[in-house]
Amino acid sequence: MSKKILVLGATSGIAEATCRIWATQGASLFLVARNAEKLVAVAADLKTRGAAYVDFAVADLDDTAQHPSLLTHAINSLGGMDIAYLAHGVLGDQTAGEQSFPAAEQILHTNFVSPVSLLTWLANYCVQRKSGVLAVISSVAGDRGRKSNYLYGSSKAGLSAFLGGLRNRVDREGVTVLTIKPGPVRTPMTAHMPGAEKMADVNAVAAIIVKAIEKRVDVLYVPFQWGPIMGIIQHIPESIFKKLNL
Ligand SMILES: NC(=O)c1ccc[n+]([C@@H]2O[C@H](COP(=O)([O-])OP(=O)(O)OC[C@H]3O[C@@H](n4cnc5c(N)ncnc54)[C@H](OP(=O)(O)O)[C@@H]3O)[C@@H](O)[C@H]2O)c1
Repeated sequence: MSKKILVLGATSGIAEATCRIWATQGASLFLVARNAEKLVAVAADLKTRGAAYVDFAVADLDDTAQHPSLLTHAINSLGGMDIAYLAHGVLGDQTAGEQSFPAAEQILHTNFVSPVSLLTWLANYCVQRKSGVLAVISSVAGDRGRKSNYLYGSSKAGLSAFLGGLRNRVDREGVTVLTIKPGPVRTPMTAHMPGAEKMADVNAVAAIIVKAIEKRVDVLYVPFQWGPIMGIIQHIPESIFKKLNL
């Protein structure tokens, strides 16, 4: 049976690479993104790679009021849903956010409030059917606040905490919640950063995510070494951590 997969933020570098793998497996895909031109190109590419079915909707996922109708439409189009994959997010402008709350709020809204709205609806849909996987991209940046990106980091920390609680609620209902915590990955989000060429390859990261969804893993650090690295970083005493330039 072809897997029915809903992808939110489908034009993201990581999501696109993941969808390419699902397409070769013959999955049915419903794609949501806000950039119509990119979305049409991604949808056409996935069809040629072997997806059994591809449909899409253009939507700004910051608009939480539209989420229930968007999700209903997507699931009707797919004829059900086995996996929801949430990949949208913004790095945002840390410096601007330090000076102006609206800039800070924008990061928190896209990375935290929007996924919470989507997941509240999706979790209830899955619980009613006693099945489904909710796979959500958070970040290692959420494991400890750093001065260089604590707005992005705190939005992802909130998301990871929400996912942990949601998993605790729905696991016994047959629903899997996967928290994906990538380290730095070479995508449009990080292309401008120094050392981007040394970051993890997006196709390798996508292959690991696909396997973790199949195995119904709870929390995935990808590449795997970011688990132990963040374990060490979390244990650095605050008296030392506050003096570091991270
Ligand atoms: N790359 C990394 O190193 C890294 C590490 C850890 C976690 N992550 C997370 O991985 C996820 C995917 O990021 P990526 O690396 O693949 O970067 P990316 O290519 O920049 O993807 C981010 C995507 O989010 C979409 N988006 C942002 N705001 C949106 C909104 N309001 N409505 C709809 N779509 C919106 C963007 O759409 P537009 O194209 O229209 O802007 C873009 O397609 C993000 O959640 C990111 O935080 C990335």
